[in-house]
Amino acid sequence: MACECDMSNSSRHTGERRTLIVGLVCLDIINVLDNYPLEDTDTRVQDQLWERGGNAANTSVVLAQLGVKTEFIGTLADSTLSRLMVEDFHKYGVLIDHCIYHNNCKPPMSCIIVNSSSGTRTILHSNRSLPEVMYEDFELLNLNNYTWIHFEGRNVEEVLKMSERVVMHNGQFIESHDRIQISLELEKPGLKPSFCKLLPKADVVFLSKDVAKESGFQNGEECVLKFSKDVKPGAVVVCAWGELGAWAVGPNGEVVHSPAFPPAKIEDTVGAGDTFNAGVIYALSRGSSILEAIMQGCKIAGDKIGHQGFKIDAGTVTT
Ligand code: ADP
Ligand code: FRU
Repeated sequence: MACECDMSNSSRHTGERRTLIVGLVCLDIINVLDNYPLEDTDTRVQDQLWERGGNAANTSVVLAQLGVKTEFIGTLADSTLSRLMVEDFHKYGVLIDHCIYHNNCKPPMSCIIVNSSSGTRTILHSNRSLPEVMYEDFELLNLNNYTWIHFEGRNVEEVLKMSERVVMHNGQFIESHDRIQISLELEKPGLKPSFCKLLPKADVVFLSKDVAKESGFQNGEECVLKFSKDVKPGAVVVCAWGELGAWAVGPNGEVVHSPAFPPAKIEDTVGAGDTFNAGVIYALSRGSSILEAIMQGCKIAGDKIGHQGFKIDAGTVTT
């Protein structure tokens, strides 16, 4: 903590402050088929790709392509398989200097079935041994380097401590532009009710349709309205809902909706939500309205699902 003030001047005055994304990087083995396979059959796939994946990592590479100086912090196994992930971060210019390497671990992996006829992606994920990012890892970061910190809500207790550190750091500033904006993604079902304590820490909360459904909501509007009661005053609550687009509510309580912007043909929906989140963070950090921000998210996500991977077409950036 002591060194934060010393370094504040150097990073503030050179304009080097960046966006930090905290969460998962993993290996995705993506199988593309034109039909969902039958159980106990031997199927030839149209394509099979080994890609870097993970929600936070996907969001990072999209943000970096939008021109945002982006850093990712996550854990990596000290394994040759991690090279693929590191190279991908380098390709997109994402800083990974503070990632934590663990010996004798295997990287987390997902086997994914992309059905190119229906546009669905079915994910089978496993992490057998790699630890998550811990508060002790996060504590080593100089918070003066960041304008925005996005947390993937995974290990709730640790993320809670991390976000509390950022809230405390923000307490020393009077001007809102000096404070770090905090966003939080709650995507995976099964974390309730423990994730509730994270909600009041964030300025922007992203809830997935899976979490919305788990909470008993039938649509994005119901979801954002209900969760807006649990966030801190003035926070923005966002819920993307696949082909129906996305809903959001902000400080004035007005719910806004963006339609989806589907491509001519859906090729790859892996990480559509992560791409959407990057678009929203990008737009809000540039001062766009909440409606403009979710429209930006839907446009970039719509472009992403029209081709394999995370290369973003600059033409979809409208804010
Ligand atoms: P996740 O990848 O987390 O399941 P969603 O499925 O909610 O996320 O998708 C996020 C965004 O991606 C949506 O708001 C929408 O803009 C876009 N999107 C996803 N699937 C489709 C689809 N089938 N058609 C059009 N847009 C889609
Ligand atoms: C997509 C994704 C994949 C990864 C999986 C982890 O949102 O991040 O890249 O394998 O989810 O749950």
